[in-house]
Amino acid sequence: MQYKTAKGLYDILPYGSKESWKLTSTWHYLEKIAYEVSNIFGYEEIRTPIFEHAELFLRGVGPTSDIVNKEMYLFTDKAERQLALRPEGTSSILRAFIEHRLFETRKKHKFYYLGPMFRYERPQSGRYRQHYQFGVEAIGQKDPCQDAEVIELLNQFYHKLGLKNISLEVNSVGDLTSRENFKTAFTEFLRPHFDGLSKESKVRFEKNPLRILDSKDPHDQALLSGAPSILSYLSKEAEDHFSKLIAYLNELSLPYTINERIVRGLDYYSHTVFEFKAADLGAQNALGGGGRYDGFLPLLGGPNLPGIGFGAGIERILMTMEKQKVPIPFQSGPLVYFIPLGETAQKKLFQYLCQLRRLGIPADMDFQVKKVHSSLSHASAINARFALILGDRELEKKLITWKDLTTSEERQKPLEHLIDDLRNHWKNNNAI
Ligand code: HAM
Repeated sequence: MQYKTAKGLYDILPYGSKESWKLTSTWHYLEKIAYEVSNIFGYEEIRTPIFEHAELFLRGVGPTSDIVNKEMYLFTDKAERQLALRPEGTSSILRAFIEHRLFETRKKHKFYYLGPMFRYERPQSGRYRQHYQFGVEAIGQKDPCQDAEVIELLNQFYHKLGLKNISLEVNSVGDLTSRENFKTAFTEFLRPHFDGLSKESKVRFEKNPLRILDSKDPHDQALLSGAPSILSYLSKEAEDHFSKLIAYLNELSLPYTINERIVRGLDYYSHTVFEFKAADLGAQNALGGGGRYDGFLPLLGGPNLPGIGFGAGIERILMTMEKQKVPIPFQSGPLVYFIPLGETAQKKLFQYLCQLRRLGIPADMDFQVKKVHSSLSHASAINARFALILGDRELEKKLITWKDLTTSEERQKPLEHLIDDLRNHWKNNNAI
């Protein structure tokens, strides 16, 4: 039997992948930019386990959400604990925040995270059962300026990666009062059309009508064309929050559209919600999204602090970069690749190899040379700068052959200067 990844999963390989978004070097590049941008904005990294008590997500993401209802990877451990692979990051971050009483150490908190999330969804291009997110959570500040900062951080992240053709959509789902008032008006509007709703929306009508706004069903969409807008039902405070956010976005000259249909598929949102979309992705065009979740911390047993964050799907970003042919900086290989011809040469070169590595200079070596030609092609494949070949005759003359793999130039140099020569080359070409 030949084993393959389970359905909806994929491997990230150092080489040999036909799709560049599945190459490790591409991921390293994205991760580096994520760290840089987070650092520039003053966010600190947080890492939580990939599974939690299932109850956490039930409370946070919501029992009527698709994520909890249909998509959670649930399992029971040997002690009969109900656990779940995390479908998203926010609930876990807030759980850790409360558990470790971080709210007692500071008043304002800014976290970022990178890691896998698990959702049992129907796989398709851009939709996986394990996907990665870069996310942030800012806790403690209610001012709309905080919302603008979070949106600007994500915008800068996309921008620094070189993404084009992306758009930002914003909305407000208001506070609890706004939502209750809207819910009444919205269900009143829908009631006469109930029979025409899709099966899924009929269920949502009872359990969580707002989510009907999310429906992809064309009949539902047509029905919704005359629906009331949540923005007309915002309380004074919610309206004020939203208009201040809009003013901040205008001042930043950050292009956006207001999409009053965005409610997002998780229950914890209040006030601002937003999504970035990529024109070059197919059906799964949501590049990243988030929103404010004032009221979520107390729901999980924490202090009454406001929060806002986003989650950005890494696969979709990298796929868009591949489609748009965004150049990824070239990752260089080792400075040298040693090719020994004989046992004595191998012993000598292995010493040099270890010496160079102890000096922090990337070096590698062929431990089983069959043909120089094939060792040289391996040196090229790993992007080595120089191939250094040592045979018995050269050893007697205390010389070594240097082959520059960028120019194919070949020359012999004294063995005794080898380490100094390589060290100088490394120093001159790399800032150390
Ligand atoms: P979400 O919208 O469910 O939000 O997911 C965030 C992003 O993850 C999506 O915009 C998408 O790019 C990516 N994504 C989601 N599911 C998949 C999948 N099956 N395959 C590939 N990519 C996927 C959240 O998870 C919230 N925790 C975001 C948040 C943080 N809100 C506040 N703070």
